[in-house]
Amino acid sequence: MREEPLSIHVPVLADEIVQLAELQPGQTWVDGTAGGGGHTQLFAGAVGPHGRVLAIDRDPTAIERLDRRAMQNVYARCASYVDLPGLCQELGWEMVDGILLDLGLSSDQLADRQRGFSFQHDGPLDMRFDPTLGEPAWQWLQRVDERTLADTIFQYGEERHSRRIARNIVQQRRRNPIRTVAELRQIIYASVPAGRRSGSGGRRHGRVDPATRTFQALRIAVNDELGEVQRAMQVLPSCLGPAGKLLVISFHSLEDRIVKHAFRNDPRLQVITKKPVRPSDAEIARNPRSRSAKLRVATRVDGPAPTGAPGQSAPTGIQSANPSRISW
Ligand SMILES: C[S@@+](CC[C@H](N)C(=O)[O-])C[C@H]1O[C@@H](n2cnc3c(N)ncnc32)[C@H](O)[C@@H]1O
Repeated sequence: MREEPLSIHVPVLADEIVQLAELQPGQTWVDGTAGGGGHTQLFAGAVGPHGRVLAIDRDPTAIERLDRRAMQNVYARCASYVDLPGLCQELGWEMVDGILLDLGLSSDQLADRQRGFSFQHDGPLDMRFDPTLGEPAWQWLQRVDERTLADTIFQYGEERHSRRIARNIVQQRRRNPIRTVAELRQIIYASVPAGRRSGSGGRRHGRVDPATRTFQALRIAVNDELGEVQRAMQVLPSCLGPAGKLLVISFHSLEDRIVKHAFRNDPRLQVITKKPVRPSDAEIARNPRSRSAKLRVATRVDGPAPTGAPGQSAPTGIQSANPSRISW
């Protein structure tokens, strides 16, 4: 009998990461978003038996899966990448040679009906990376005011029918809480003009299903994803040793903007990638999910931590989701 693969997630930009990270045997690396473990495995192989890799994920299922792989020299922890300073202290590691963040969600999470990330499979509307913490998406939808809901769908999902979707959600939840993926999807379809709907739960005629945008927005809000990236940009550079590298892959223009500005304005960092690194056409053909990935890399230089409290509010506003394709 063939064994089920532990993960269906395909790691993005693997060749570019190998080249830019300059991995060496004996180094200490952190995979801050371990997910299916693809990048973790890459790091573990490159640093070898005398090196070590800390694999972090907020999702307990991802960490259980990594534990089952029992990779030598990999330490797996269920935590946020923002907790890295405390984890290093716990492990007795003074500094690390590099950190990777591969933001967003994994294909494993998307495929799991019980998580509610995909509008294509019905299931409970949860959407938390860590289902043991915080509030599920359906509860957030039940309590948030209509204006915040509309702004969230507009800003994080770039959905121009956000006001109508928010109004219809609020009307529906007065009757009954919206607890499932199918219920929310139905409200979105009823709120968007018919010409803009695929109606099949997928792409048609090259159009993105309108549920994609609202589901993305809810996921970002429920997990405070932009707040996490901002806090990370404050704390992670201090964990790097001299010439240590910070690599961040983002899939959304708002995340990428936070990373770009943080890299540029942090006296502890020197930017290596003046423009973001994009996947090749061949990678996009092999793994279409990689198409919106943007990798930025910075290296640690001496300099004080910038002032400004971690956890400032996320920036708002719309940006083009179609940056031009550039290599470094
Ligand atoms: C795109 S996937 C990573 C895939 C991984 N690089 C691989 O090759 O399989 C993103 C992962 O980040 C995790 N994640 C999201 N926010 C996080 C946070 N603040 N701290 C740690 N992990 C987080 C998600 O649970 C998800 O598993």
